[in-house]
Amino acid sequence: MTKALNIVTGLFVLLLISCGGKEEKKKEGFSYEKKEATEKVVKKAETIPASKRVDLSNKGIGPITSMALNAEIDQTMVTHGADVFKKMCTACHRTNKKFIGPPPAGIFERRSPEWVMNMILNPDEMVKKDPLAKELLMEFNGSPMANQNLSEEDARAVLEYFRTL
Ligand code: HEC
Repeated sequence: MTKALNIVTGLFVLLLISCGGKEEKKKEGFSYEKKEATEKVVKKAETIPASKRVDLSNKGIGPITSMALNAEIDQTMVTHGADVFKKMCTACHRTNKKFIGPPPAGIFERRSPEWVMNMILNPDEMVKKDPLAKELLMEFNGSPMANQNLSEEDARAVLEYFRTL
């Protein structure tokens, strides 16, 4: 009887050990899954769409190589820029939401003023040669930013208007 009891106890201990082993495996599996989840997050950050990516050092390709925005917003330019935007751009752009093209609200948090000017004045070359503009064209399913033949002055006024959005 004691022998039988010993065997049963022995088996019970074995069972406990093997269960313990399982428990550990489960934990390993869990930490592996966790690692996979972190990798996914990293991958997501790498694939931020071109329209949302911040790239303030890229000046683009075109006639504008250097420009600075004054600290103060020029209201006369804003009024003129708003008018130009309404006439020449609203066919494809809404100020605050994605339309045929991306919305310009908050654009200077993502883009340099030079890049925006070159995108307006020289879009054909930009979407062919500038890496970011190329990706933007793909993101918008190949519909290109149109060259509206704005003068440099008009484009500059549109930029001032963008600052107020
Ligand atoms: C026929 C449609 C069309 C018109 C008109 C148009 N755009 Fe665009 N625009 C687009 C599309 C599509 C994109 C994004 C794809 C690309 O860049 O090729 C874009 C991109 C842009 C970008 C880059 C935006 C960003 O977030 O990176 C700017 C700046 C811009 N447009 C300004 C203007 C201005 C200013 C006008 C008016 C003078 C204008 N667009 C007129 C279609 C248009």
